[in-house]
Amino acid sequence: MSLVSMRQILDEAFKDGYGVGAFNVNNMEQIQAIMEAAKETKSPVIIQASRRARSYTNDRFLYHLMMAATELYPEIPVALHQDHGNSPETCKSAVDMGFTSVMIDGSLEADGKTPASFEYNVRVTREVVEKAHERGVTVEGELGCLGGIEDGHGAGVDAMAHLTDPDQAVEFVKRTGVDALAVAIGTSHGVYKFSRKPDSAILDMDRIIEIHKRLPKTYLVMHGSSSVPKELQDIINAYGGKLKPTWGVPIKEIQLGIQHGVRKINVDTDSRLAMTGAIRKYLTEHPEEFDLRSYLKPAREAMKKVIIERMRSFGQAGHASDYDPIPLSVMAQRYSNGEL
Ligand code: G3H
Ligand code: 13P
Ligand code: ZN
Repeated sequence: MSLVSMRQILDEAFKDGYGVGAFNVNNMEQIQAIMEAAKETKSPVIIQASRRARSYTNDRFLYHLMMAATELYPEIPVALHQDHGNSPETCKSAVDMGFTSVMIDGSLEADGKTPASFEYNVRVTREVVEKAHERGVTVEGELGCLGGIEDGHGAGVDAMAHLTDPDQAVEFVKRTGVDALAVAIGTSHGVYKFSRKPDSAILDMDRIIEIHKRLPKTYLVMHGSSSVPKELQDIINAYGGKLKPTWGVPIKEIQLGIQHGVRKINVDTDSRLAMTGAIRKYLTEHPEEFDLRSYLKPAREAMKKVIIERMRSFGQAGHASDYDPIPLSVMAQRYSNGEL
């Protein structure tokens, strides 16, 4: 199956009321881990690359790795998504490269850290929507800012400082025409999201419920949604790591979000924790080893395991065969005739 648009995946997820994990990748082993997890659970999947991932991997390598994935797993519908595009130029380069979906994160200025004005956000998002839809490519926008700055995408302040305003969300969706909307509800990227098990004072799930009431047809996106499992932290720390105690987003809160319009759930940190823990463990237990395959294999397996768990909990498992892939040219026509 060739790459499909993210819109098609989200439309299917909406029909059956499930969520779809959007998993970040930086190399071949991560793409393999996700595709193997999708095969085992029969899941449609969204694979996403940040700007830093694109620059680390190189666009041509990434493109051909994704082509290999579609060739080797023809039964799996997969969308390739630009995560946190910082400008219309970044989104355009992603579309030119073959991404079937882009995020324009106009909640922050192009530096990826300064909270932007609402008007700036509307302007850059609308510009990307017009250009991407002409080519049948899906667009995700963001309103409100995530906290933290660990990975270069975040307002670098208290995560509760820039939450999404539900009324403004209605205006934003109307004026931009985005397919999906990322909302800020108190999460941050990276491993240090919460310094205690999150409750409603620091993870505002009610805000999702409110936004969904006002925008029942808009697909909501949860960023910073790794669960940061204690078992994965413990493996890293047992084998020489130095993570401080931390909490992520509990799976049951994500499932609550899915009941209230969340269709895309972004997960990167959990994959990083799984792979790093497996590598640390392997190398500590086999100090004589220097064949990189010996530790990348368990790392890939560890990531596959965590992705399988997420696919099952988000509900996408079992839905790969529901799809009849729609070419981007047909998606483009549907946008232009107002069907979408
Ligand atoms: O948006 C955050 C993702 O975890 C990507 O992070 O910029 O380090 O690739 P990155
Ligand atoms: P995590 O850091 O929680 O995995 O979030 C990833 C993300 O939101 C990518 O856009
Ligand atoms: Zn994000």
